Amino acid sequence: MDNRRPLIAGNWKMFKTCSEAVETAEHLVKLVSACADVDIMIAPPFTALAQVSEVVKGTCISLGAQNLFWETEGAYTGEISPAMLVSSGCRYVIIGHSERRQYFGETDESVNRKIRSAVSSGLVPVVCVGESEKQRELKETFSVLDKQVKKGLDNFSPGDLNTLVMAYEPIWAIGTGKTASAEQAQEVHEYLRAMIEKKFGNSLAKSMRILYGGSVKPDNIAELMSMADVDGALVGGASLDPLTFSKIVQF
Ligand code: 13P
Repeated sequence: MDNRRPLIAGNWKMFKTCSEAVETAEHLVKLVSACADVDIMIAPPFTALAQVSEVVKGTCISLGAQNLFWETEGAYTGEISPAMLVSSGCRYVIIGHSERRQYFGETDESVNRKIRSAVSSGLVPVVCVGESEKQRELKETFSVLDKQVKKGLDNFSPGDLNTLVMAYEPIWAIGTGKTASAEQAQEVHEYLRAMIEKKFGNSLAKSMRILYGGSVKPDNIAELMSMADVDGALVGGASLDPLTFSKIVQF
């Protein structure tokens, strides 16, 4: 087994006001204070980042954002720059989540630009890929991932990507309670790692963390984590409750 430190990440999506986010984070800090073997990240909505950052400062929990825009500044109403995230205490940023691809026009090309801007600002990109139910039925899973990875990571050197975290989130498993089986996740993670090896070499492939996301719960995390190429989880619904999320962290 290679030296990949597990990462358990919580994507809070469009949930929690500032006070709710602070309360959740405070509770979580107490519950996971003893977790030395795993990296923990929570991604509250933009509006709560600065306040939650104060709560998690100096703890084992890192802060992430759910999106960013690639320009440094300018007349881009409603957008958030990498420097703004850094100044709000973020270390990670989720890029290319399927909900952003589905509802907000995110493409592999925009994902690519966002990864570049994240990396050059020192943020750790958590890049989401995954197929729909229909694509899986049509046996297009691997070709869909091929395209997402190829275009999303086009024109990077291995050195650009040495912090990058990949997240395999099959769309049919997100928020549906239908988790991919540990074997299904392993099959795809192995495929993704082989793609990274082919494109960027063995060293990056061995060190890159690949998370699984889609209906991760306290009762399925251990089996998922027992797979050789599953290095952590990107958790949606089950990350909103601190006790439930802390059980996933302590898989
Ligand atoms: P759920 O855990 O709610 O299925 O969401 C997964 C997800 O989209 C995390 O980014």
